[in-house]
Amino acid sequence: MRSGRRLTLGLVVAAMLLGSQGQALAGNKPAYRYPWLPVKARVADLLSRMSLDDKLGQMMQAERLGIKAPGDVAKAKLGSLLSGGSSQPTPNTTQAWADMYDNFQREALSTPLGIPLIYGVDAVHGHNGLYGATVYPHNIGLGATRNPALAKKIGRATAEEVSATGIDWDFAPCLCVSRNDRWGRTYESFGEVPELATSMSTIIDGLQGRSLSQPASVMATAKHYIGDGGTTGGVNEGNTQISEQELRKIHLPPFRAAVERGVGSVMVSYSSWNDVKLHANSYLINNVLKGELGFKGIVISDYNGVDKIDGKTGFTPEEVSASVNAGIDMIMVPFEYQKFIDTLRGEVQNGHVSQARIDDANRRILTKKFELGLFEHPLTDRKYMSTVGSKEHRDLAREAVRESQVLLKNDNNVLPLDKSRNKIFVAGKTADDLGNQTGGWTVGWQGASGPVTTGTTILQGIKQTAKPSSTVTYSKDGTGIDHSYDVAVAVVGETPYAETKGDRPASMGLDQTDLATLQKLHDSGVPTVVVLVSGRPLDIAQQLPQWDGLIESWLPGTEGQGVADVLFGAYNPTGKLPVTWMRSADQQPINVGDGKPALFPFGYGLSYRHGH
Ligand code: BGC
Repeated sequence: MRSGRRLTLGLVVAAMLLGSQGQALAGNKPAYRYPWLPVKARVADLLSRMSLDDKLGQMMQAERLGIKAPGDVAKAKLGSLLSGGSSQPTPNTTQAWADMYDNFQREALSTPLGIPLIYGVDAVHGHNGLYGATVYPHNIGLGATRNPALAKKIGRATAEEVSATGIDWDFAPCLCVSRNDRWGRTYESFGEVPELATSMSTIIDGLQGRSLSQPASVMATAKHYIGDGGTTGGVNEGNTQISEQELRKIHLPPFRAAVERGVGSVMVSYSSWNDVKLHANSYLINNVLKGELGFKGIVISDYNGVDKIDGKTGFTPEEVSASVNAGIDMIMVPFEYQKFIDTLRGEVQNGHVSQARIDDANRRILTKKFELGLFEHPLTDRKYMSTVGSKEHRDLAREAVRESQVLLKNDNNVLPLDKSRNKIFVAGKTADDLGNQTGGWTVGWQGASGPVTTGTTILQGIKQTAKPSSTVTYSKDGTGIDHSYDVAVAVVGETPYAETKGDRPASMGLDQTDLATLQKLHDSGVPTVVVLVSGRPLDIAQQLPQWDGLIESWLPGTEGQGVADVLFGAYNPTGKLPVTWMRSADQQPINVGDGKPALFPFGYGLSYRHGH
């Protein structure tokens, strides 16, 4: 063993010596091409061969829609590409994704140094951009399961579907701690206390696998660093006005856990901490994240995040140097990457950004590329294609849905529903709507109502579960209900949204459509169970007395059968609230321990009585 180690060391030294002179080892290959050399040595060798422009290119992440012509990737020497929330190839198939990825990759490989691209997507609840992929509950639902082992399995399954399309990098998990439910990204949070995001950070282990070099390992991203869920008023990209002690107590622990798990990247938050934009916050990135927590991976900006430092559109040289000097290694510059490269080159030449900083950023980026095995296996591993939307993954999603449902009210044991001898009336705009139940970040940034992808709606789940001796009648708006029914199930709630558009600074109640549907059911006198499909608690205190049962379903994803499993008692509910449920919207922010009277406290969740 000892002699083996000495031998390796000798080879490393030899390789580095040869490499630094631009020489090659046997076979005319530069040292960085040898997979058996340690990553550190390969990085050092490659770095020694790179020009300033090679290095600036590596630091850029462009949107694939920003690549206007073949040859652009090679010309700008781009290090990375992304597909943003609404950036899917046409047709939106696994095959088309993989072909797209491979074409970009081949172009990068054709450059003199042949450095492969790293390609990122927001697979935040499954590979949600891909039509037909398995879509899991959004994080808030996973938080309700309190099941870190399940989160890890979901990470693994997601990584397989992502790998089937070639992609190496996932901008997930969001480890945000949502402190104000007005925030439109509340559903991307595992819950309002740091312990939830910390414990569910196991999803990183699933995504990254045993090591990044394994097949179907995808690099994870802890985002958004830091305090994104703590802004005043729950305003997206807003200002988190809290002491450093509170920032460390509430928002830092999940990132510490992620770094301990070896997360490959951290994305910086658009938000500010006490008026200073995170994208320019050297203390929090350089000192706390890289210094104190010892993070060695890639710090990536958010989409156009550098532009927002001074609050004006576009980026200035000051913003560019401020962000890179604050410790951002790769910059998500969707479209203006060439201008960014030119600006950053100027800032290096005039001494505002040091060559050492550029080298450090490149070392971090190249290290991850080597660790991922991209130099050896740059193209899509197509054997994972059969995992996309597979039975196995959908079963896992269904299990996650079951465990995420939170039973909040069950007067007179209206639930579980009886499978046989039951006349069931189903209503509500979301009963038969896959888009509503999957929410934002599903085949499109903001998501959309309707049949956006393939899966099982809640109504289909109910129909599949009820025995032939029962009847299931569906009417979207509740028309046609009469007292002959045994029970009514109303599936209502929010329609899809994502960042910014999802903020609710005013009312947080049900919309007029839902209220009208619910009124019809109430007027019929039939006992009513409400299934609330929403990204957060809603202001329902006034309507609640009219309902016999209430299940908070969150945004369950494509497997609506899991909701039916709970409705019929095939699964006895175990979900617990990951957030405090307000009595009225004016209580926001309301969180456990703040003394405000809740409608349902943090951790609340009923089960069916034993033996039912
Ligand atoms: C979001 C990030 C996301 C990025 C890339 C941004 O608008 O804030 O969470 O990763 O877009 O799609």
